[in-house]
Amino acid sequence: MSLFSTAPTGIFRRKPVDAIEPETEGGQLAPVLGLWQLVALGIGAIIGAGIFALAGAVASTTAGPGVLFSFLIAGVVSLAAALAYAEFTALIPRAGTAYTYGYAVLGEIVGWFIGWDLLLEYTAIVAVVAIGVSGYVGNLLGQIGVHLPAWMLGAPGTGPGHAVDLVAMILCLLIAFLLTRGIRSAAWVETVLVWIKVALVLVIIGVGVFYVNTHNYIPFLPYGWSGVFAGAAVVFFAVFGYDALSSAAEESADARKHLPKAMMISFAICMVLYVLVCLVLTGMVYYRKIAPQAAFAHAFQDAGLPGLASIISLGAILGIVTVMFTFMFAVTRIWFAMSRDGLLPRWFSKVSARRRVPVRVTWIVGAAAALIAGVTPIKEAAELTNIGILLAFVVVCAAVIVLRYRRPDLERTFRCPGMPVVPAIGIVGAIWLTVYLAPLTWFRFIGWFLIGLVIYATYSYRKSVLGKQLRTAAESRLPTNP
Ligand code: ALA
Repeated sequence: MSLFSTAPTGIFRRKPVDAIEPETEGGQLAPVLGLWQLVALGIGAIIGAGIFALAGAVASTTAGPGVLFSFLIAGVVSLAAALAYAEFTALIPRAGTAYTYGYAVLGEIVGWFIGWDLLLEYTAIVAVVAIGVSGYVGNLLGQIGVHLPAWMLGAPGTGPGHAVDLVAMILCLLIAFLLTRGIRSAAWVETVLVWIKVALVLVIIGVGVFYVNTHNYIPFLPYGWSGVFAGAAVVFFAVFGYDALSSAAEESADARKHLPKAMMISFAICMVLYVLVCLVLTGMVYYRKIAPQAAFAHAFQDAGLPGLASIISLGAILGIVTVMFTFMFAVTRIWFAMSRDGLLPRWFSKVSARRRVPVRVTWIVGAAAALIAGVTPIKEAAELTNIGILLAFVVVCAAVIVLRYRRPDLERTFRCPGMPVVPAIGIVGAIWLTVYLAPLTWFRFIGWFLIGLVIYATYSYRKSVLGKQLRTAAESRLPTNP
């Protein structure tokens, strides 16, 4: 069997879509999540650092009040991918998300590539968000007179005396701890935090609207449409997250029915909130005066509401933490799925008999995120993220088109509309947004990809469960010697 064969026995071998069922070896995950818990997980992953930390910066320096259009453009690309994800998640409700879809439709090497890619990206997102939260925590503590020693305030080189970002590291380990306690209790905490976050955004809109001065909207596009498009590439960070939600497929009580709905509901709620929040922010503060960091807290402070400004800071911290939760959850489930498929050592996919969660990988991801968060400046960690997400979107959109034509017979409880135009918009839009990413991001990404290729060639290809099954089937067909 050739490694480079394009037949299903080579690196492009595929898992038959309708034969994919959860396996029990290593333990099963607990299917306990209902529709609204899934919606909470989705909103938890979508609304976060993107709106609380990036929107203000983009409005003030890149797009002006036109940041609203940046969100809408990023939203259209993301919606196209969301519809493709929704079709897949109803069809293949498995923990591995884009990895599993790529594996089933485009072949093992594509699945491996996307899985390996997401392991890095999702872990980096957890780290980025932890660093962002740690900044807010430092600020808030400063406001009440508690000053932490400089050495623990940030990664080396990010400020005088900084040696490590201890708060960010502790946060990563805390979330890992929570996830190892079992999905039911972790989801409960997540749901509470998410509704606090939504309430906070509603307060910003409901109170902020009374402080809007329509003169602040003029000019609406001070940086022109090029500013709007450049802004879209940045605020793209704010409009994904539902992709991580699909990793909860095996823990959903009725994945085929609930997951597509949960994705659409959470995405729609977030887009409506984003549009309103952008209008309020750029209406409250003239775009040049918007604070790039903690924009909302500053807007309310300047409006003479310092108490509300502090509540917003606190709410933003809690809100952003839920993003860490969902992405750490997602990366452990992708790792779990790859390990269960034999592409990474089986040791990782051991599920705790009592809690029914993959405890080993959860601690490994927690420690890896803590390590990145402790010693990496936020900008460098952030650069690692968008590229992988965009490429995963390209693969999922391409796979949904391929499968629709290859297997039109499969029963789909959710169908991506406007086939093939809608997923094609997702593909073109995602590729177009990668053009705006820094070259260093590409180099790092290619480095990670090459490491993955070596592991695939030396380990995963041989150990693949699917590969073993195909070899056994082929051997049983060989004529035996008399
Ligand atoms: N959409 C998530 C955020 O904005 C990643 O933090």
